[in-house]
Amino acid sequence: MKLINVSYTYADGVRALENVSLTISEGERVAIVGPNGAGKSTLLRILAGLYFPSTGNVEIMGTTLSRKDAERLRKNIGFLFQDPDDQIFMPTVWDDVAFGPINLGLPEDEVKKRVREAIRMAGIEGYEERVPHHLSFGEKKRVAIAGVLAMEAPILLLDEPTANLDPQGRRDLVNILDSVSQTVVLATHDLSVAFELTNRAIVLKKSVIFDGKPSELVERPDVLASANLELPSMLRLMDRWRRTSDRKFHLPLTIDEALRIINEECRKNGI
Ligand SMILES: Nc1ncnc2c1ncn2[C@@H]1O[C@H](COP(=O)(O)OP(=O)(O)O)[C@@H](O)[C@H]1O
Ligand SMILES: [Mg+2]
Repeated sequence: MKLINVSYTYADGVRALENVSLTISEGERVAIVGPNGAGKSTLLRILAGLYFPSTGNVEIMGTTLSRKDAERLRKNIGFLFQDPDDQIFMPTVWDDVAFGPINLGLPEDEVKKRVREAIRMAGIEGYEERVPHHLSFGEKKRVAIAGVLAMEAPILLLDEPTANLDPQGRRDLVNILDSVSQTVVLATHDLSVAFELTNRAIVLKKSVIFDGKPSELVERPDVLASANLELPSMLRLMDRWRRTSDRKFHLPLTIDEALRIINEECRKNGI
């Protein structure tokens, strides 16, 4: 997937994206991070072929996106909307998850298999006959995730996938994404989600202001401040310790890594 000099202006004149260029390779897992209003959802909708750039080009799977073939390309994309109410509309959970696969024209057996598997992965077994609109926000989010998984599209675009999920829901999502080989682009304002789920972070504030590894981003206070991003508390603690004790380690991204550093630093001081 490629965006080449993409800008986007809404009908009321709000300029949401300004000269965004980026390339996402097959199988990559990327987080688009940035504050509210940074243009993350707009960017995902452009990648999904739902919006067309005001200027610039989009290439999806080697084809420049035009209105003519947007429909065909959209079949390759599973899109999780920020708000599950934009996504869920069938009378039962089962029907909702089955909607995509049925629309792909798959045989009934295959539809059943996919729906069962997606419902299992999303952790909503037993919800099949429930009315989606009576579910809690987090439960609806899981239904929407199941719907996206059942499509088995090669590209997954996930808008704030963990917002309002409980810790177990978040853990389930991490495991799901670890088990799929699809290209995944997710948008979030939460750095801990980005670090847990991906190995590339693109910081967006209308334009791309950083594109690199999470381990590089955590060492860029300038970028973080300008995008109103806050490091997870474990990283803030390690950063404060490093500054106040004049130590020179790299900031850790996981608890295991942090423990290793703490042990190492203590050993150096004979503690
Ligand atoms: N339908 C719309 N009409 C006009 N402005 C919009 C519309 N949707 C979003 N915007 C504006 O575009 C900017 C980017 O929005 P969005 O892509 O939703 O940001 P994010 O997902 O990063 O919070 C914001 O200033 C927002 O208010
Ligand atoms: Mg958004």
